Amino acid sequence: MNIPLSAPDIREEDIAAVAGVLRTPRLSLGPKLEEFERAIAGYVGAGHAVGVSSGTAGLHLSVRALGIGPGDEVIVPSFAFIAVANVLRYEGAIPVFADIEPATLNLDPGRIEAAVTPRTKAILVVHTFGCPAELSEILEIARRHHLCVIEDCCEALGAEYDGRKVGARADVGVFGFYPNKQITTGEGGMVVTGDPRLASVVRALRNHGRADSDDWFQHSELGYNYRISEMNCALGISQLKRIEAILARREEIAGKYTEKLRGNETLRLPTLAVPRRKISWFVYVVRLSGSLSQIHRDWIVKEMNRRGIGCGRYFAPIHLQPAYQSAPALQSGLGVTEYEASRALALPFFNRLRDEQIDEVCGNLCELIQPDSSS
Ligand SMILES: Cc1ncc(COP(=O)(O)O)c(C=O)c1O
Repeated sequence: MNIPLSAPDIREEDIAAVAGVLRTPRLSLGPKLEEFERAIAGYVGAGHAVGVSSGTAGLHLSVRALGIGPGDEVIVPSFAFIAVANVLRYEGAIPVFADIEPATLNLDPGRIEAAVTPRTKAILVVHTFGCPAELSEILEIARRHHLCVIEDCCEALGAEYDGRKVGARADVGVFGFYPNKQITTGEGGMVVTGDPRLASVVRALRNHGRADSDDWFQHSELGYNYRISEMNCALGISQLKRIEAILARREEIAGKYTEKLRGNETLRLPTLAVPRRKISWFVYVVRLSGSLSQIHRDWIVKEMNRRGIGCGRYFAPIHLQPAYQSAPALQSGLGVTEYEASRALALPFFNRLRDEQIDEVCGNLCELIQPDSSS
């Protein structure tokens, strides 16, 4: 690819930080883990943070630690990465897919409330593409119905709702650091919570069920190896030091795309500003409008890729995935999800994307969305 869809932003200081760990005897469960946990907790304003091997591992342990189990229903978007529903199935819980709002592509609070039943145990809310969901309303629905709330912040490090960073308002928040994220650890994740009991349960579960008071071969409960290595943590610490510059550059890139593509009637562009929220830009996703349908979208993706420009559909709804065709999951009216997902198109988006590359992407896209270009 001349211009990939995504690319990590690794600097010399990141490499030196990782190499530094390799010169020590502690490669796991050491000082870098503690430092990274403290750094993320401080950054998002959470009381406790527990480093884990991925965002998915963090979501899974959050579900376990909240006592969500067989037959419990959890309301979740289908317009999301598949892990948000998989982690429920790992525990025998039932994903209940609710529809989204077209403007922000986040869970629609009205649809959440309509999906609540006596079996509902929790809401798993995703801050889609780094734009915070309607948190106040969602937390209020949860309070009224005595539900837990998990914030999936895997795409939203640094995003804010009412001036507070996402992740620290619900029962638990989960971050992910895969290489396409705002900061990366290669693979890695972080669970944040204000509840010390929950934090210590997650801490034990990530380490084979070994509680702080257990010795190395004592396991209080069934756990997992969801640990994150010291090398991953050193990379995360180093990257987090640049977070303000990273977020600013990503916001600038989103602004430049909008400047270039504004006025094109066949495209609906992502909203740059949403009341009460600060977006932490994860991806720049445009939606085709009017007569352009999924067939055009899929053709454009293919043609952009053929021209060396990374481009992808983002997201494919979970309820339409083969892995969910006979899965125990519930849904009610996912019309917005299906419509928006069929027309969504992610453009190259990463810190080091240069202005002339943005011009090249937009030039090619505009050429391809001419009314009869695919015929
Ligand atoms: C919204 C969301 N949740 C969960 C995940 C899973 O994170 P990971 O890939 O670190 O397991 C992702 C990943 O990319 C994501 O975008």
